[in-house]
Amino acid sequence: MYSIIVHGGAGEHKNTKEAKKGVIRAVKKGENTLKECKNPIKSVEESIKVLEEDINFNAGRGSVLTKKGEIKMDASIANSKKEIGAVANITDIKHPISLAKKIMKNKDHLLLGGKQATKHAIELGLETSNPYTKKRIKEWQEKKEQKNPPYSLSDTVGAVAINNKGKIAAGTSTGGKSLKQDGRIGDSPLFGAGTYVNKDIGASATGTGEGIIKSLLTSKVYEKYNKEKNLRKAIKKSIEEHTKHISKKINSCGVIAIDKKYNISFNKNTTHLPVAYTKEGEEISSNL
Ligand code: GLY
Repeated sequence: MYSIIVHGGAGEHKNTKEAKKGVIRAVKKGENTLKECKNPIKSVEESIKVLEEDINFNAGRGSVLTKKGEIKMDASIANSKKEIGAVANITDIKHPISLAKKIMKNKDHLLLGGKQATKHAIELGLETSNPYTKKRIKEWQEKKEQKNPPYSLSDTVGAVAINNKGKIAAGTSTGGKSLKQDGRIGDSPLFGAGTYVNKDIGASATGTGEGIIKSLLTSKVYEKYNKEKNLRKAIKKSIEEHTKHISKKINSCGVIAIDKKYNISFNKNTTHLPVAYTKEGEEISSNL
């Protein structure tokens, strides 16, 4: 048995057709990886790599630009043993999630940031790329002309997978908020905020990082799951609580999760949260 779910970010997706294609492509890749090597971490990494290469999503090549017009990416990945790898504010690396995965194996640190992290990725032989797309540069030029540009467009990506032995992995990758302050780090690299895994559940969150950090959204889902023993209710209640207690300006969010019983669930308080998911023996489904 296995289950896998991927998301393309909470927010308003202008092109839902492309978003649907993208999340389906990603879940297919993740499913094939699970079938081939039964490794949920590898499956999560491969799914997220597909989304990081898709310019329709705010991660990797599709990352939005900072106030200064730069790209600074955050990511994290973790497994049921709470082995965690994370990166913050990295540039020029094609797959931030792969750097997070490499860091996961390190015994001395679990979160690397900035120029040093990018340098480390190059030393490790990870692929570099120029993530500046015409689409994002145009959006950035338009937004910085506006008096009150939209606060956030956090179309972060993420994936959660469980293998035949009940081992769970989850990961999250993002370009962060558009027009963000130089140096700003969101929820995506933070365990318990953007990504959470233990032996019972795995979860990836998306939305405005400042709010997600305040409510530790993915670990909140686990707390509620622990009481309710119902994944769907745990996510629903967590999002309701988050929406109520976090100020409106920073409370947009979405969560995907899988539990140890192979249940898959997701919810959001935004217009869209493109997801695609499947279980062994089932067709791939999407909510778009
Ligand atoms: N959720 C992504 C961010 O706020 O950076």
